[in-house]
Amino acid sequence: MRQVLDAAAKGGYGVGAFNVNNMEQIQAIMEAARETQSPVIVQASRGARSYSQDNFLYHLMMAATELYPEIPTVLHQDHGNSPATCKSAIDMGFTSVMMDGSLMEDGKTPASFEYNVNVTRQVVEWAHAKGVTVEGEIGCLGGVEDGHGAGGDGLSHVTDPEEAERFVKATGVDALAIAIGTSHGAYKFNRKPDAEVLKMDVLIEIHRRLPKTHLVMHGSSSVPKQLQDVINQYGGKLKPTWGVPVEEIQLGIKNGVRKINVDTDNRLAITGAIRKVLLEKPEEFDPRSYMKPARDAMKKVVAERMRQFGQAGHASDYKAIPLKEMAARYAGETVGV
Ligand code: G3H
Ligand code: 13P
Ligand code: ZN
Repeated sequence: MRQVLDAAAKGGYGVGAFNVNNMEQIQAIMEAARETQSPVIVQASRGARSYSQDNFLYHLMMAATELYPEIPTVLHQDHGNSPATCKSAIDMGFTSVMMDGSLMEDGKTPASFEYNVNVTRQVVEWAHAKGVTVEGEIGCLGGVEDGHGAGGDGLSHVTDPEEAERFVKATGVDALAIAIGTSHGAYKFNRKPDAEVLKMDVLIEIHRRLPKTHLVMHGSSSVPKQLQDVINQYGGKLKPTWGVPVEEIQLGIKNGVRKINVDTDNRLAITGAIRKVLLEKPEEFDPRSYMKPARDAMKKVVAERMRQFGQAGHASDYKAIPLKEMAARYAGETVGV
């Protein structure tokens, strides 16, 4: 992933990181990448790894790299809750891991700065020795997804730019997730977010202090009204809600954001498409009759984001560096400087 993010920084664009749990979601991302000629970051949460079982996920990803050899493809552990989780991902063949030491191992309790530095530093040592990239997090997002998250609204644990600077220096992470008011899931804001609730000024200040660190925006689904409407039109019960406007993400990309995490928008697209088929064609029972439109709906969202983030057209910028060569590069750097 370091290579993908370095190229993005050079080219001034962002790269979407899309969550997967199953074959159709991986296929949707790979098809969108081929259509738009984009590099991709495919990410799996702990919940996704246990839902799909590691081996299914791993071999599906290997199939993706066989079938789409022209697409630079990263497999990333999303929100690793402990060094052990990250180690198991590295051992399995993930090329990037997130050590989310902003929360304790329970994935709920905000952790101290010292704890966060210690666990993240440990993971950086293991990962870099194998050429694997590390994302850390400082500050906590709001909300709870799959039991993971500090809860509350997005403003409870906004990143302190001074701490962010110390954290990067102390850990040697490749990428840094920051908290600027967003939360995971569909219910981020109860109106279109403005500067009061979405702290783009904090992001800009962090980038000013850490111009060489790749910043990561979590909770970055835009939760478009049109996707909410499809779900509600076909029997769903979503309450009105607002996500992160794409233009704010684009402002972030101008200010050091290189990885943008999106899961909820794809969940909404998939669910809307399935609801539509089940309601319009109650006689259907072949899962392909609704999984295919669901996969197409996700592909459409992912391709749109790839164009909006600017990664479209950049798939052939790379000559992929083997992990061993990446490890040798890391060995030449001193962590903590
Ligand atoms: O971290 C949040 C992502 O949306 C993953 O969610 O833990 O329910 O798989 P999950
Ligand atoms: P959303 O819930 O906004 O899609 O965020 C996903 C995310 O941050 C995964 O780590
Ligand atoms: Zn996240």
